[in-house]
Amino acid sequence: MAKMEVKTSLLDNMIGVGDMVLLEPLNEDSFINNLKKRFDHSEVYTYIGSVVISINPYRSLPIYTPEKVEEYRNRNFYELSPHIFALSDEAYRSLRDQDKDQCILITGESGAGKTEASKLVMSYVAAVCGKGAEVNQVKEQLLQSNPVLEAFGNAKTVRNDNSSRFGKYMDIEFDFKGDPLGGVISNYLLEKSRVVKQPRGERNFHIFYQILSGASEDFLCKLKLERDFCRYNYLGLDSAKVNGVDDAANFRTVRNAMQIVGFMDHETQSIFEVVAAVLKLGNIEFKPESRVNGLDESKIKDKNELKEICELTGIDQSVLERAFSFRTVEAKQEKVSTTLNVAQAYYARDALAKNLYSRLFSWLVARINESIKAQSKVRKKVMGVLDIYGFEIFEDNSFEQFIINYCNEKLQQIFIELTLKEEQEEYIREGIEWTHIEYFNNAIICDLIENNQTGILAMLDEECLRPGTVTDDTFLEKLNQVCATHQHFESRMSKCSRFLNDTSLPHSCFRIQHYAGKVMYQVEGFVDKNNDLLYRDLSQAMWKASHSLIKALFPEGNPAKINLKRPPTAGSQFKASVATLMKNLQTKNPNYIRCIKPNDKKAAHVFNDALVCHQIRYLGLLENVRVRRAGYAFRQAYEPCLERYKMLCKQTWPHWRGPARAGVEVLFNELEIPEEEFSFGRSKIFIRNPRTLFKLEDLRKQRLEDLATLIEKIYRGWKCRTRFLLMKKSQIVIASWYRRYAQQKKYQKIKSSAIIVQSYIRGWKARKLLRELKHQKRCNEAATIIAAYWHGTQARRELKRLKEEARRKHAVAVIWAYWLGLKVRREYRKFFRANAGRKIYEFTLQRLMQKYFLEMKNKVPSLSPIDKNWPARPYLFLDSTHKELKRIFHLWRCKKYRDQFTDQQKLIYEEKLEASELFKDKKALYPASVGQPFQGAYLEISKNPKYKKLKDAVDEKIIIAEVVNKINRANGKATSRILLLTKNNVLLADQKSGNIKSEVPLGDVTKVSMSSQNDGFFAVHLKEGSGAAGKGDFLLSSDHLIEMATKLYRTTLSQTKQKLNIEISDEFLVQFRQDKVCVKFIQGSQKNGNIPTCKRKNNRLLEVAVP
Ligand SMILES: Nc1ncnc2c1ncn2[C@@H]1O[C@H](COP(=O)(O)OP(=O)(O)OP(=O)(O)O)[C@@H](O)[C@H]1O
Ligand SMILES: [Mg+2]
Repeated sequence: MAKMEVKTSLLDNMIGVGDMVLLEPLNEDSFINNLKKRFDHSEVYTYIGSVVISINPYRSLPIYTPEKVEEYRNRNFYELSPHIFALSDEAYRSLRDQDKDQCILITGESGAGKTEASKLVMSYVAAVCGKGAEVNQVKEQLLQSNPVLEAFGNAKTVRNDNSSRFGKYMDIEFDFKGDPLGGVISNYLLEKSRVVKQPRGERNFHIFYQILSGASEDFLCKLKLERDFCRYNYLGLDSAKVNGVDDAANFRTVRNAMQIVGFMDHETQSIFEVVAAVLKLGNIEFKPESRVNGLDESKIKDKNELKEICELTGIDQSVLERAFSFRTVEAKQEKVSTTLNVAQAYYARDALAKNLYSRLFSWLVARINESIKAQSKVRKKVMGVLDIYGFEIFEDNSFEQFIINYCNEKLQQIFIELTLKEEQEEYIREGIEWTHIEYFNNAIICDLIENNQTGILAMLDEECLRPGTVTDDTFLEKLNQVCATHQHFESRMSKCSRFLNDTSLPHSCFRIQHYAGKVMYQVEGFVDKNNDLLYRDLSQAMWKASHSLIKALFPEGNPAKINLKRPPTAGSQFKASVATLMKNLQTKNPNYIRCIKPNDKKAAHVFNDALVCHQIRYLGLLENVRVRRAGYAFRQAYEPCLERYKMLCKQTWPHWRGPARAGVEVLFNELEIPEEEFSFGRSKIFIRNPRTLFKLEDLRKQRLEDLATLIEKIYRGWKCRTRFLLMKKSQIVIASWYRRYAQQKKYQKIKSSAIIVQSYIRGWKARKLLRELKHQKRCNEAATIIAAYWHGTQARRELKRLKEEARRKHAVAVIWAYWLGLKVRREYRKFFRANAGRKIYEFTLQRLMQKYFLEMKNKVPSLSPIDKNWPARPYLFLDSTHKELKRIFHLWRCKKYRDQFTDQQKLIYEEKLEASELFKDKKALYPASVGQPFQGAYLEISKNPKYKKLKDAVDEKIIIAEVVNKINRANGKATSRILLLTKNNVLLADQKSGNIKSEVPLGDVTKVSMSSQNDGFFAVHLKEGSGAAGKGDFLLSSDHLIEMATKLYRTTLSQTKQKLNIEISDEFLVQFRQDKVCVKFIQGSQKNGNIPTCKRKNNRLLEVAVP
């Protein structure tokens, strides 16, 4: 979205007034208060028309960011709050768009922020002008020339930690598009006396300290320097360190900047060698030595330093030494050599140091110019930035201050001229009548200094050139004579001086009433400094150096180019260069930045009213405002004026279709502004009184509020309506969604109902169909059945018929047979006796019987009693006979089989038979026992010596001897026992020892109980009251139960003639001592294989699980 263009104005959100022209009432107090108010709100810039007043904030403000640059870019001067960027932008744009060369004049006293301002202007212009690799390099070089020049040309003074000790004017050159092409720097009079001496609390030029702090040990060694400020006489010791300044870091910055600007490595090296040589020169000391001719001569105290300097600079030591001791004066063809005394030697040394350094500085500027000069020859547009040392008043003011202040005086002059000129020109341009304005013109002071005949500089030159003894005092005398009557010159000794009794003015001084205040100058040194004398011997010695830079710095040392003419004095040189500068400036469109220092302490937030007041006065700022306001306080082009106030009139609001001027006329008429209050220029409206403007502003403010309310109203209406429409739309959407949802639900319900109904109908139809199909099937089945029945009936009928037929046929055959028989018998009766039939019958029968028996004889089966075969019966009538015969045969073969038996076998089979009678089909264990022969003595007691005692105890025949398990009645566990059955007793003996545990006569055994299942458990019940019955019945288990029970039965029977009761039941009671315990047999798991397990369940139940 395109950014909405919002027209703002300087008048918006103003703190105090942004433009002093609008100050009401206008006086010194209100002026200062306005500045102060703005300063307190960090508004350090204020306008007087197009002049920017800048108050040094002494702290970094966030108003120089790239965003701010963008904010001020391409905006009208009065559109935003006052800023140095606005001025820079205005200057740059009129340079680029209107092809007007510009100059930016930055004035103010030392420490007011001129250098900073110049850098801000340059950085702004660099930021807004064209881009591209080449252009960027140019910009970078232009910007980086500052740190280099500051290092060599700035120093800490009592007023400013980074005071410019030279004047600088830089022309930045642009092409027709406004892209920077290069630049030219002019430097003005470096304060070179600082090299050898600094006032208290001040420092030498920064570069000396930077080298000593920042250079590497290696580099220092090369330069033959030591990292100790105290070692060097030229470095003022009391303030070698400046708070907040990192010399070492600055050194790196400077070297980097030098590299960017384009210094070659060897050049940098040479520069630092010269600096080192200057520093070391200060350490050369002289001592007096009397000569024979009575003249004083000086000698170098310690030649070591001199030697090092010579090594550094490549000068022959003897040449330099001689130059410090002698002075050659050449006049016409004569050469006279005089010795130098100690003072003269020191003077020569310092002169050399100063010259070396100031020439190095000028060389640096020239070298930078070489780097930054525009390459192309196209026509250039120029923007000059002038940052010259500020007006200075020290305790001791000397020639330098005089020169500096003269320069400022000239600048003030040009300011006055140009401002007034510009104002006047504007009035003429706009066709408005010009009214004369009273103001202080400092031309008179300039004249005092620079007048070619009576000016101070002219007189100084005159003194310097005059033959005879010339001293500073003779110069002062001259001044006293010539300038005595000048209003701005004050001296104690001048003719009819008004200051004869002014003790504040010493005899050796003169005072000038500068535009910025009175300054008292010490005449001492004026002549020398103006002469700026360097003994020719020294310059020649320098020229002889093998160090190319030093050689180049002293071209006059070349004997071939010897020039006996005096070089121009420092004063006249400066005057000339200032004059050139002024000329230059006058050809350009001026832009002013007037810097003000808020306090003397370099402190932030401190606003010293008196100090500011003083500066305002000498800068003539109030006059500036008055001049600006003399005719009309405020002017503005018609378009922005109409744009700003059009809302105050119905015809112009919201759009004025006609020309802007007509619009403004309508507007002013409508507002009934008195006619004398404004004037219509060609392109601007001029407002006489700021009050009128403020009235307009108030009206505008009120109207804006109304408009804001209106906008708010419309906006609110719009907002509500949009909201309503949105809600309506939303409601429709929601409703449609809800309807859709409801319909979907309904549809789903209908669908499911339809499915149900459908399923019912389908079910009903299916059932109907099923019924029909079933009916059909039944019909088919019925038909089949009926058919079957019918066919059956038919078949049976047919069968019956066939049977009937057969019977009939048979009957016919029988009848026929009978009939034939009868016929035969009737026929043959006459041939047979009466009983012949009987006889034939019996004969036939006998014959058949005979045949049967004969056949049977051959078919008789084997003689084995178990052979079940028997031939089939041949005749029905022999059925009973056949069966009887089978029985007889079986009995017979059994008898035959039995007859083979021995007595022993007989006994065995008897026993087996007995067992069969007792157990067959009663106990499941029985069938398995049939095949096992009964052995009786499973345990051979007689053979085992272990049982000898047992054997001895039983003298009767042993019927059974085997190991059985006696079941413990308490827990159902089994213990092995030997069971012996003799003819009379049953014995139980310990298996291991053979000791008899119990002996029961057979008569006492009443019953044996066992289960019907496949287990070997059995209980031997004893007669109650018998001897053995005390402990109760025995519950035993045997592997040969069937044999045991059978033998017990048979033995009991044969001994007692009583049948032993054998009870087969799955539940029986056993007497254990007094209690009866039920032994119950159940079907158990096969967990323990095929072994039945016995478990005591409770007092009365012993459970045997049979697998
Ligand atoms: N706009 C500014 N913002 C922040 N600090 C500033 C600004 N202007 C000046 N200063 C501070 O004030 C000091 C002095 O400023 P500057 O060196 O520009 O003074 P000057 O007018 O050039 O003085 P001189 O005439 O001695 O060279 C700076 O070193 C800086 O600390
Ligand atoms: Mg400066």
